[in-house]
Amino acid sequence: MNDAVPEHQDVSRRSVLWTAGAAGAGLGLGAFGGTAEAAQQPEERAAGGTAAKEPPRQGRTMIGVPFQRRSTVRVALIGLGNRGAAMAELYLAVPGVQVVALCDPVKAKAERVAAKVTAAGQPAPAVYVHGDHDYEQLLRRGDVDFAHVATPWDSHFEIAKSALLNGVHVGVECPAALQLDQLWALVDLSERTRRHCMQLENCCYGRNEMRVLRMAHAGKFGDLLHGAGAYNHDLRSLMFDPAYYEGPWRRLWHTRLRGDLYPNHGFGPVANYMDLNRGDRAVSIVSVGSPSLGLSRYREANMPAGDPSWKESYIGSDRTISLVQTARGRVIRLEHDVSTPHPYSRINSLGGTKGLFEDYPERIYIEPDHKNDEWGDFSAYAEWDHWLWKEHANPPGAHGGMDYMLVFRLMQCMRLGLVPDFDVYDAATWTSPVPLSHLSIKQRGLPQQIPDFTRGEWRTSRPGMDSEKPADA
Ligand SMILES: NC(=O)c1ccc[n+]([C@@H]2O[C@H](COP(=O)([O-])OP(=O)(O)OC[C@H]3O[C@@H](n4cnc5c(N)ncnc54)[C@H](O)[C@@H]3O)[C@@H](O)[C@H]2O)c1
Repeated sequence: MNDAVPEHQDVSRRSVLWTAGAAGAGLGLGAFGGTAEAAQQPEERAAGGTAAKEPPRQGRTMIGVPFQRRSTVRVALIGLGNRGAAMAELYLAVPGVQVVALCDPVKAKAERVAAKVTAAGQPAPAVYVHGDHDYEQLLRRGDVDFAHVATPWDSHFEIAKSALLNGVHVGVECPAALQLDQLWALVDLSERTRRHCMQLENCCYGRNEMRVLRMAHAGKFGDLLHGAGAYNHDLRSLMFDPAYYEGPWRRLWHTRLRGDLYPNHGFGPVANYMDLNRGDRAVSIVSVGSPSLGLSRYREANMPAGDPSWKESYIGSDRTISLVQTARGRVIRLEHDVSTPHPYSRINSLGGTKGLFEDYPERIYIEPDHKNDEWGDFSAYAEWDHWLWKEHANPPGAHGGMDYMLVFRLMQCMRLGLVPDFDVYDAATWTSPVPLSHLSIKQRGLPQQIPDFTRGEWRTSRPGMDSEKPADA
């Protein structure tokens, strides 16, 4: 399985570009359109096309490809807003990691994080603050092993592409990209450059998620049948708060796309339970969306006349509900709702022939432990905790510690030269509901095929997040 190009035999940017040109594929949007794209409706093109047809492979698989072992991982953070600044602190808390470079066009944000780096006793990082494309200079430095991208969504694809072309492993905040042809381009770039492109899906590292994953693999739920996940998080006040995000970028997506804008937090964990891309795969999605009223009602109640938001028309469904079918016939329900009042929920449920787990609040019902329709106490199953959670009882950082687990484990894999827990195929699969739910809703509930980003390799089972503790950790 180890067919990685050693990272010291660095990929030449020119050779990668030449290969792309020779294949006639290019790297831009619509690169894989051909005649299929010509036949698409305009709204299909907006979401990057249905692209059910698999484009020819340009490189070699990244499945099972380990990182090169290194004693120190040199990290760059691109985008230092709410998320990037918080994640910087976690990189500084993990042993064997050096934060060498930072990038954000807002100089004050970059300087604030740079001060944290030196306060942690590390050398002053290089800082890139000259506009929206300064990340390109950062990625050309030659001393960055891994770039963490925490910028607004529309820049994720271009930054990830630039990282790969410069021989830098890259992790991207959710969603990895917004269009289907961008997802294919990331798969192909990762395969050609021999660098990993990963969706930084922190919820997969939640304590409950990892416990359910281990129990599912041990057969505690029997044969798996169905699961559900969501991003149901009332973001109205944050999306209209001019001081929270760097501009209104997040709200503006509700004027552009109709479907599930943020499927990864719900889809990633259930995909792991069901071993998607590791023995099963997601084959189709059908989505329906409610009317879009929440943001305009919030604006009416809270925003003064003349606020720029009054020029916006919201088309995104307040609640999008999608059903994903897998090759083995299982069903996954995904929900997305960030524009109506409700308590936070990622649903996070899994059911099989022996029973089920449901989160928010956590509860379990499996045979033979439970009967008479009475839910059981999930805390009684702590013995099934993943080794990461047994070792780090009180991890630092936000989101109950799962952010730290993600960073710790990824950095561990890079230091020890291990195969990452998740790869570009997972990134593409977990993100594909963004364009496909939009298309399904636009086409009044027409099912959309989810591409096989592994090009047939999903049939082979292999480890993912249900890892063994490394012997030399
Ligand atoms: N996984 C999670 O739990 C989680 C939580 C919050 C946010 N996020 C994700 O993190 C990302 C950032 O969200 P946020 O809340 O920090 O937003 P934000 O607006 O607070 O921060 C974005 C930052 O990116 C900077 N930026 C914009 N364009 C840039 C460019 N071209 N190069 C470098 N920097 C650039 C902005 O100046 C800003 O500081 C989003 O993708 C969001 O979905 C993930």
